[in-house]
Amino acid sequence: MTFARIAGTGGYLPERVLTNKDLEQMVDTTDEWIRERSGIKRRHIAAEGENTSDMGVNAAKKAIEAADLDASEIDLIIVATTTPDKVFPSTACIVQRKLGLKTIPAFDVHAACSGFIYALDIANRFIATGGARTALIIGSETYSRILDWTDRSTCVLFGDGAGAVVLRASNEAGVFSTHIHSEGEFEELLHVPAGISSGYDVVQQEAAFIQMKGSEVFRKAVATLGSIARETLVGNNVEQDDIAWLVPHQANLRIITAAAKKLGLPMERVIVTVDEHANTSSASIPLALDVAIRDGRIKRGELLLFEAFGAGFTWGSALVRY
Ligand code: ACO
Repeated sequence: MTFARIAGTGGYLPERVLTNKDLEQMVDTTDEWIRERSGIKRRHIAAEGENTSDMGVNAAKKAIEAADLDASEIDLIIVATTTPDKVFPSTACIVQRKLGLKTIPAFDVHAACSGFIYALDIANRFIATGGARTALIIGSETYSRILDWTDRSTCVLFGDGAGAVVLRASNEAGVFSTHIHSEGEFEELLHVPAGISSGYDVVQQEAAFIQMKGSEVFRKAVATLGSIARETLVGNNVEQDDIAWLVPHQANLRIITAAAKKLGLPMERVIVTVDEHANTSSASIPLALDVAIRDGRIKRGELLLFEAFGAGFTWGSALVRY
């Protein structure tokens, strides 16, 4: 059996840091409110002219270096993003050009905050069926460009960044399973109303920004993450005690804590970066994974559970031996 195995990870955060104190000067909020409700202390914001592909390339270079391979060995690129550089070409094609990789398939996946899990699911299937041997998957987002910086209920929650993972075909596990879902009926609870086919109107500025019914999203996220974790454990016949680390999507510390509690995992076995990065959507899991691998918490051979929930609604999980 051929498994997709994590060969290397990389992360990138823009230089500019925006703290809760900075936000106090911009909207009617307080550091205390943001920390209490979300656990967020600061976030990174992309520089002018710094796009999703630029951040993705920076994270990818680090992942390629960590995987100790020649970039020419990569035979698939998938970029998970909701904030592409352009309508087309895909951000993955732009990343391909910037990395100097020729003619290999490259495409984007759009599943909001679950995007990385969707990309992992697809790359895993490519590798398991022999369609690719070395896949580069990236989550990269510039949510600062789709935030209304006068709306305190959303602008305090998100940040920019990118994470990347190189997956290689191996006889050793590996990704054991991935589980992805969606439920389109909740579109209005979390969305950016502006679109291309629905008539993008730049005069209607508010339509170009995130609109969210926060408390309803919160309740749905906690319930759904509980069920996806159970589905993953039961599907693989493993117990929560077998999981060394939960690497969740970093939306809100309260959501992460509630999901860990439902799973019966102590917070000492949960990777948390939301305090430093805020919600970076599809970048958040690979960024958190990279932080914990580089600081030595996650070690080779350990069993990891990834889980995510986002707009769509979409959600997903993966059980992976690092
Ligand atoms: N500063 C101060 N007060 C605020 C702020 C702020 N930044 N934002 C909202 N408030 C106020 C509200 O106006 C409200 O005031 P009121 O009671 O006078 O009306 C009060 O705080 C409480 O608002 P709630 O929305 O009920 O607060 P809640 O405890 O639900 O926390 C939060 C809000 C943090 C948004 C929470 O609901 C949440 O995290 N929801 C999930 C959001 C999320 O994770 N979204 C991303 C999903 S992933 C993706 O795909 C993008």
